Amino acid sequence: MSEKKQQVSRRQFLNYTLTGVGGFMAAGMLAPMLRMAVDPVLQESGHGDLTNVSLAVEDITTEPQRIDWKVNQVDGWYESEVNRSAWVFKNDKDEIQAFSPICKHLGCVVSWEGNDQYPDQFYCPCHDGRYYKDGTNVPGTPPLKPLDVYESEVREGMLFLGDAVPREGA
Ligand code: FES
Repeated sequence: MSEKKQQVSRRQFLNYTLTGVGGFMAAGMLAPMLRMAVDPVLQESGHGDLTNVSLAVEDITTEPQRIDWKVNQVDGWYESEVNRSAWVFKNDKDEIQAFSPICKHLGCVVSWEGNDQYPDQFYCPCHDGRYYKDGTNVPGTPPLKPLDVYESEVREGMLFLGDAVPREGA
């Protein structure tokens, strides 16, 4: 049995080398692009995070007060600072209530006692929408659902708020 000597020609050597180096360089360029394309989709969003809204619990009364704060929002590759607002007060059971001010009709902003004719109600000036103090919509007015309620928590005497959660209609 004869031994056949394996020889690599100069041309073959160059082909192998260039293919290897080219593949290595292509992988080096594609990996960051692939990571950039996929990474934001795989990352957890800030959903469910609670933010300190700089309101001490001892400053919350039975009179609704409007508070404003900012949160960082990440949508895929786009990161932005978003303004949020809430009407905050304590109800008859001394429970903290935090309602979204966004009207459930067409999204205008409601205000507490915004119309002298309707004391003790949230009022939406766009189409005379009204809500009772507990946030439920007044039947016969345009909104068909109660105001959304913020997820809330008290930490070391400060109010933390999360996402506004919809409730069932009245
Ligand atoms: S948007 Fe509030 S009543 Fe229409």
